[in-house]
Amino acid sequence: MIIGIPKEIKEDEYRVGITPSGVRTLKDHGHSIIVERGAGEGCRLSDGEYAEAGATIVDSPVDIYSGADMIMKVKEPQPAEYSLLHEGQILYAYLHLAPAPQLTEALLNTRVVAVAYETIQTHDGFLPLLVPMSEVAGKMSVQVGAHFLEKTQGGRGVLLGGVPGVRRGRVTILGAGTVGMAAATIAVGLGADVYVLDVDQRRLIYLEEIFGNKVTTMISNPDNILYSVTNSHLVIGSVLIPGAKAPRIVTKDMINLMKGRSVIVDVAIDQGGCTETSRPTTHKHPTFIVDDVIHYCVPNMPGVVARTSTFALTNVTIPFALEIADNGITKAALSDDRLAKGVNLYNGLVTHEKVALALGHTYSPLSDVM
Ligand SMILES: NC(=O)c1ccc[n+]([C@@H]2O[C@H](COP(=O)([O-])OP(=O)(O)OC[C@H]3O[C@@H](n4cnc5c(N)ncnc54)[C@H](O)[C@@H]3O)[C@@H](O)[C@H]2O)c1
Repeated sequence: MIIGIPKEIKEDEYRVGITPSGVRTLKDHGHSIIVERGAGEGCRLSDGEYAEAGATIVDSPVDIYSGADMIMKVKEPQPAEYSLLHEGQILYAYLHLAPAPQLTEALLNTRVVAVAYETIQTHDGFLPLLVPMSEVAGKMSVQVGAHFLEKTQGGRGVLLGGVPGVRRGRVTILGAGTVGMAAATIAVGLGADVYVLDVDQRRLIYLEEIFGNKVTTMISNPDNILYSVTNSHLVIGSVLIPGAKAPRIVTKDMINLMKGRSVIVDVAIDQGGCTETSRPTTHKHPTFIVDDVIHYCVPNMPGVVARTSTFALTNVTIPFALEIADNGITKAALSDDRLAKGVNLYNGLVTHEKVALALGHTYSPLSDVM
């Protein structure tokens, strides 16, 4: 198979779809890899390193898209890339289609086979291709939250860890999955007073096993959300229902009751956000203020720690890329349920139930259409 790696063109996206070591692995299985010139420069991976690993370097994205059987990239295609995709081509990337009707329409029109990293899922609910970026975003969420709490950044002027004689800052984490766990690790490490909420009791038990009484866990219901959000300096939104739009569990009324110039980092913004007041922002203009509360809603947080993120991403994308490249998408998806869950669109049909539900499309089970 010919695998194409375009340079990412989403604003402030510095990651790339593969490392030179990933190229070597695919080459060892007999595949050809074409990499767009300069694709790795955002994370200091040179064309020379890719060429040395066995990739062919090409000058334009047109050559990548027209020549490849599979496009392997980080973020969803941008409008300038829609017309470059072609029927039957495999698109293997983060897509987050549920909150993105225009992107979904565009991809349906191209009749690509769209495999979304974030919905590849094991039987026990584990999302192996979301996990490393969630680790990154979870760790970053407390870092950026602490930054925007500084007075010069417009924040309340609170140090999360406090000092002897002065109360610690309080952090509320909504959703105790991978993002939530990583955020809790950093928040506890900083010495903040940490609340964690989830609808899944088992996650809360797990967190208490790990952190003991350094975190306060609460089941996620409207009363507990109201109490914790309005008593916090930093709120981290990290809920997920895989494939679906994020539930908007923080209402505008709750935001209105929050402390002045406290901060919300809505990590779940890539699935639409979990507060009623969230809308996507960029790394260049990461925040906006509603009701005197600072909102940070960047959908591609790991993009700015591009090198760490690119290596972490390639570690987990390569095994499935190999399954697809070695067997073709149909055989690979039919023989691996985890991969089948990743196939969101198949030749103009929506093959992921939750994506179809979120966007009002007809759901076509993959087993029926392949
Ligand atoms: N902005 C970014 O750059 C970025 C990067 C990585 C991940 N993300 C996003 O962060 C979100 C979380 O990802 P994750 O990997 O931690 O997911 P996860 O599945 O590991 O965890 C999600 C948790 O949310 C909980 N949950 C569901 N509904 C809830 C509710 N109503 N109240 C409280 N908890 C609820 C689930 O029980 C689960 O424990 C996803 O939307 C993911 O796409 C964003």
